[in-house]
Amino acid sequence: MERGLILLAAALMVFVAPGVQGTAHLSFATNRTVNITRDGCGSTKLCVETPADCDPAGNGTCLFGAVNTSTPMAPNGTDLSIQLRGNSQGYVALGLTANASVGITMLFICAQNSSNNGTFFFRTMQRNNTDSMLSPTETIVREIRGSVEGDMIRCEFDVPGVNATSTRTSHAITFSILLGSGTVTGGVIGAFNSTLNSGPLNITNPASNVVNTTPAPTTTTSGASSVLYPHALLLLLSVLTLSVKLRA
Ligand SMILES: *[C@@H]1O[C@H](CO)[C@@H](O)[C@H](O)[C@H]1NC(C)=O
Ligand SMILES: *[C@@H]1O[C@H](CO)[C@@H](O)[C@H](O)[C@H]1NC(C)=O
Ligand SMILES: *[C@@H]1O[C@H](CO)[C@@H](O)[C@H](O)[C@H]1NC(C)=O
Ligand SMILES: *[C@@H]1O[C@H](CO)[C@@H](O)[C@H](O)[C@H]1NC(C)=O
Ligand SMILES: *[C@@H]1O[C@H](CO)[C@@H](O)[C@H](O)[C@H]1NC(C)=O
Ligand SMILES: *[C@@H]1O[C@H](CO)[C@@H](O)[C@H](O)[C@H]1NC(C)=O
Ligand SMILES: *[C@@H]1O[C@H](CO)[C@@H](O)[C@H](O)[C@H]1NC(C)=O
Ligand SMILES: *[C@@H]1O[C@H](CO)[C@@H](O)[C@H](O)[C@H]1NC(C)=O
Ligand SMILES: *[C@@H]1O[C@H](CO)[C@@H](O)[C@H](O)[C@H]1NC(C)=O
Ligand SMILES: *[C@@H]1O[C@H](CO)[C@@H](O)[C@H](O)[C@H]1NC(C)=O
Repeated sequence: MERGLILLAAALMVFVAPGVQGTAHLSFATNRTVNITRDGCGSTKLCVETPADCDPAGNGTCLFGAVNTSTPMAPNGTDLSIQLRGNSQGYVALGLTANASVGITMLFICAQNSSNNGTFFFRTMQRNNTDSMLSPTETIVREIRGSVEGDMIRCEFDVPGVNATSTRTSHAITFSILLGSGTVTGGVIGAFNSTLNSGPLNITNPASNVVNTTPAPTTTTSGASSVLYPHALLLLLSVLTLSVKLRA
């Protein structure tokens, strides 16, 4: 609980930005464009996209996600920097899961409110991979930047302290990355339609999906990770729901 409060304070410091309005939801307006490109894919960031090799900087349909990680794994865990870009009148989302058919997926959702001129907003949700139900989760997310132009949604955010050490296995850095989209109806997030599943990737290695020759060997340890990870995810991604509205 105490740690939760400390993290809350840290996050609030990040969010108390110029133009804060309202009380329940921290919100602020920005005119800054969010630029998302392929620069660094395979070297400083791990990129996934559909259709293959599509250009997130272009105007075409392209659902693109990129993850980079801070180097220190211990003792404070890894910080993730995530970029997401896609086309939707509702939302696009990036999911992290140990196994897309069991356990849970953490969904990071970048959305537009079409009844309010395409206002950007951000949510985190948890998807039950068995029955696809979404439920709100409390996850620390910092430095959320987002923009909406027509159906093009772009956002960037950081997820601090994904703590791999507490799972006692390096395999807690093995995630499948999901990309997909869904509807927003009256501010309510609709079902997640997953259109890409990367399969298990070492998310600390930007090139882990570049050489696509041999799949990772199936060992008893990788089995263990899929059992451990959903649990770890619940414990580690902590205590705060942030809802941030940006006007592009
Ligand atoms: C995004 O790119 C545009 C055009 O290149 C540039 O004017 C703008 O400053 C960039 N924004 C950021 C945040 O880098
Ligand atoms: C991750 O991306 C952020 C923002 O672009 C950058 O400051 C940081 O250096 C990157 N980290 C790595 C390990 O490349
Ligand atoms: C993308 O669309 C904008 C605005 O419609 C236009 O100015 C720009 O030239 C287009 N870029 C490409 C690469 O087509
Ligand atoms: C870990 O977090 C603590 C408390 O936030 C901080 O004082 C310490 O410098 C961090 N250590 C590393 C290696 O980042
Ligand atoms: C995901 O879980 C299913 C059911 O337990 C299992 O058959 C499959 O091998 C797992 N996939 C991975 C990549 O661990
Ligand atoms: C919505 O967008 C239209 C056209 O860009 C603009 O005229 C109108 O003032 C906007 N309304 C709000 C509430 O921002
Ligand atoms: C996911 O849904 C299934 C079926 O409704 C349920 O048995 C299971 O407990 C749920 N898992 C979680 C983590 O909520
Ligand atoms: C990460 O896990 C280790 C081992 O359980 C623990 O000592 C450390 O405090 C954790 N760090 C954070 C930021 O929760
Ligand atoms: C899910 O997305 C695919 C590809 O964009 C689309 O063809 C399909 O109709 C969508 N399904 C639902 C239920 O929205
Ligand atoms: C993940 O990738 C990093 C960076 O390439 C590497 O140091 C680490 O050993 C890899 N871990 C696993 C479990 O493959």
